[in-house]
Amino acid sequence: MDKLRVNLGLDSYDIVFEESFAELPRAMSNINAPKKLLIVTDSNVLELYAKEVKELFTECGYDVKVCSFPAGEENKNMKTILGICNACVEHEMDRNSMIVALGGGVVGDMAGFAAAIYMRGIRFIQIPTTLLSQSDSSVGGKTGIDFKNGKNILGAFHQPKLVYINVSTLSTLSDIQFTSGMGEVIKHGIIKNREFFLFLRDNVTLVKSKNPYILIKMAKANCSIKAKVVEEDERENGLRAILNFGHTIGHAVEAAFDFKMTHGECVAIGMIGAGYIAYKRGLLSETRLDEIEGILELYGFCMRVNIPDIDKVYELMQKDKKKIDGVLKFILPIKVGEVVEVRDVTKDEIYSALSYISE
Ligand SMILES: NC(=O)c1ccc[n+]([C@@H]2O[C@H](COP(=O)([O-])OP(=O)(O)OC[C@H]3O[C@@H](n4cnc5c(N)ncnc54)[C@H](O)[C@@H]3O)[C@@H](O)[C@H]2O)c1
Repeated sequence: MDKLRVNLGLDSYDIVFEESFAELPRAMSNINAPKKLLIVTDSNVLELYAKEVKELFTECGYDVKVCSFPAGEENKNMKTILGICNACVEHEMDRNSMIVALGGGVVGDMAGFAAAIYMRGIRFIQIPTTLLSQSDSSVGGKTGIDFKNGKNILGAFHQPKLVYINVSTLSTLSDIQFTSGMGEVIKHGIIKNREFFLFLRDNVTLVKSKNPYILIKMAKANCSIKAKVVEEDERENGLRAILNFGHTIGHAVEAAFDFKMTHGECVAIGMIGAGYIAYKRGLLSETRLDEIEGILELYGFCMRVNIPDIDKVYELMQKDKKKIDGVLKFILPIKVGEVVEVRDVTKDEIYSALSYISE
């Protein structure tokens, strides 16, 4: 089994990288999984992979039920959580039972949150099936739901006991979702690892054709970057903030366009905006800004957006939930592979970046 360890003391776990689900039973026995399992999934993944995973578990003697909810961020709410908890009760799950999150980031965040609160916390594992969840959300233990128009307002840190990545599930993912996931993947290269950035740039055709060998290499590199950051700062008191590169502008753009653009597209635009601020401050050379824009273009991101109302985007940025004592934090690239956190970006700088990313 190809795997990577996330070292978090008693909460340490393995991330397994495979091209199929075949090794799942072995991975489960390695963590002494209990017999009673609840697979949580959404309506799309239910049709695609739930039957195969359920049968695999049943053949190995697990007592398994499936609980599904309609796909989509709009269902990432308390009603769905109560539905999952209800399924736990109906399946007579006890404190030793386990939840299996099978799906993208929405499933992982909610299944993890239900696991964090059911009977004051039971174990769960992640089987991520989107590029975003395989490279980002399944690792790190952030779980939660949206509340009162705010994203991830209610939640808990709850680490999974295992992350099982089957890259072949990406074969059914839409091109839009795949490209969106690439936004976070490229972000990892820019914040922490120039070698990985160059790997992505040099292998664009193989990545886009979803070559399994390349996808496993990419997933491993991604997860090792994310895992290292999480190991150093599990609860986001410091270093973990670098993962927000591109998100300060990106989240505001996402909200300004009523969430009609994908998250990855908005992060890409946000990374260009942050890169421009760094360039204008003399922190980032023009060549490196071009490199950042160049890779995003290679992967099919739109390089500029038509922002009809820059004032509105600026206002939305002021509502950023990562603000501390009213101060907006920006993660700026100083190289490809290194970023810094700054808290003194001026209104003029933000307006100039928003003009730069506007068509
Ligand atoms: N916990 C974290 O650290 C963290 C980090 C980043 C994002 N997130 C969260 O992740 C969520 C976004 O995740 P996402 O982009 O995976 O979205 P998602 O879970 O909504 O999945 C996107 C779409 O793809 C479908 N899908 C999933 N797997 C598929 C497959 N293999 N083939 C075909 N279709 C498939 C889903 O049904 C859905 O329609 C957001 O809610 C965000 O807040 C969490």
